[in-house]
Amino acid sequence: MKARELKEKFVNFFVFKGHVEIPSANLVPENDPTTLFISAGMHPLVPYLLGQTHPAGKRLVNIQKCIRTGDIDEVGDTFHHTFFEMLGNWSLGDYFKKDMILWSYDFLVNTIKINSNNLHVTCFQGDENAPKDTESHDLWLKCGIPEERIHYLPKKDNWWGPIGLIGPCGPDSEMFIDTNPRGGPIDFIVGCKQGRIIEIGNDVFMQYNKDEKGNYSEMSQKNVDTGYGVERNITWMNGFADNYLTDIWQPIIKKIEEISGKKYSDQNFTKAIRIIADHIKAAVFIIADGVEVSNKERGYVLRRLIRRAIRQGKILGIEQNFCSIIATAVLDNQDNYGGFYPELNQNKDKILSIIETEENKFRKTLNKGLHEINKLIGRNKQVSGKEAFTLYESFGFPVEMIKEELEKNNLTLNLEEFEQAKETHQKLSQTLSAGKFKSGLADNSEIITKFHTAAHLLHAALIKILGKHVQQAGSNITSERIRFDFTNPQKLTDGQLKQITELVNEQIKLNLPVTMETMPFVEAQKQNAIAFFGNKYPEIVSVYAIGSKDNYFSKEVCTGPHVKNLSELGIFEIQKEESAGSGKRRIYAVLN
Ligand code: ALA
Repeated sequence: MKARELKEKFVNFFVFKGHVEIPSANLVPENDPTTLFISAGMHPLVPYLLGQTHPAGKRLVNIQKCIRTGDIDEVGDTFHHTFFEMLGNWSLGDYFKKDMILWSYDFLVNTIKINSNNLHVTCFQGDENAPKDTESHDLWLKCGIPEERIHYLPKKDNWWGPIGLIGPCGPDSEMFIDTNPRGGPIDFIVGCKQGRIIEIGNDVFMQYNKDEKGNYSEMSQKNVDTGYGVERNITWMNGFADNYLTDIWQPIIKKIEEISGKKYSDQNFTKAIRIIADHIKAAVFIIADGVEVSNKERGYVLRRLIRRAIRQGKILGIEQNFCSIIATAVLDNQDNYGGFYPELNQNKDKILSIIETEENKFRKTLNKGLHEINKLIGRNKQVSGKEAFTLYESFGFPVEMIKEELEKNNLTLNLEEFEQAKETHQKLSQTLSAGKFKSGLADNSEIITKFHTAAHLLHAALIKILGKHVQQAGSNITSERIRFDFTNPQKLTDGQLKQITELVNEQIKLNLPVTMETMPFVEAQKQNAIAFFGNKYPEIVSVYAIGSKDNYFSKEVCTGPHVKNLSELGIFEIQKEESAGSGKRRIYAVLN
């Protein structure tokens, strides 16, 4: 089955069951500066899952474009992708488990003709927040799936959401296929680990709302949210074990083979070809949805994708511009992309020109870096680790390529010295950014440390009370007061100021601990720690959490210092709220 057929079958099945097809939302989330890209079909629907009326009704179905930036570094294997398409259907307070499970079974067995003997399903085993999902279990049993292929699993496997810290979530029931039933009986968990048993889709029963304190409460409306990855399903359905062998990817892969003269089947090149295909496809969709290359936020993700693709091109021996040709192969894939998403053809010229410009720019950077390296080699017969770091830092020259260039001259990179230079630089920039972003802390005196922790509480409270659009726009702390600037279109009402003050003081009264953990910046982002998109962070950052590790009030990337426990703070008081320029507000606060 081709991908397009699977998409059509899914949408038609649910339209027949009274659903309205809605178009894929833009990859850039609306009114949500806390996440860079839409990462699941339910993501743009959060307000409706919480009770707002959707203009298209209570039963929806769609094919949603998704980007998962957390997976960029994993791309290169058979199944991780930066961009993917998710099939989904929703009940916004309409039908619930009974209809959903019977329909899932019907769709799998009667519409896409899966042999029901090869199906496994999982249900939530229950915990202190929600009971064991025996209802889903019994429904699957009623469909004819025997007990031994229905598995109860804990929250880490059978619970979905919220996206970020708060919002709709719930237990889920997942469907799996045993792709090699001739291999004999197999334990479910072992089969999943071996890649023999593969997840087909996920029915989430979104009936809870997680609040900022980590409590789960039943929502007034019980929803269904489902998700099926197109790429992975089309792969096993066609008997493949590698997503890139399907009709979604093949025209792109063929174009890369043609340009490079290298074969996908040659294991020396398979990974590089996959990365180029994945990254350029993601770049095409990101640009079509209005993002341009830059050094921050989404624009930086786009830049990274294009630059990584160019570097993989070098592994294939491609030295001339090629990215826009690969992009054309994505656009020309009429069945799946060009003919399916109108925004691609509408923005064709812009897409190709942005990619071409970035490729020219990066190639210039690379040439300049190469020139510098060779100058150093000519002069000193060596490039020190420190010099290599300067090349990396000021020219954006990739470390791997510095190594390669040295190796060509029978030289090796002194990695230890390189890392040392990097660390020194990071410490310096951390200190600088602590000054620039966290206040220009005059010193680390006790009162300033307390104010600094209080600023984190204020920041988290502003987001919780006013909304996720709030972003820190600056801050200045002296021994007299906290000054905190943030984005918000309107003046705060007295009621809002009161709520914010109360929320901060409630946390202080709980005597919450403040803990610090160091982790890669990407991990901090995964954990939704607050960070400034505009800031350039080192690879390893400190993350301060207020509250327990899993149930925290605030989590921020920050260099400190902070108090150990909120009991040290006293009573928080807002003294003044005023404008700090267009779209920005300023709060002055103290601790009594
Ligand atoms: N939101 C669910 C998922 O992404 C369906 O798996």
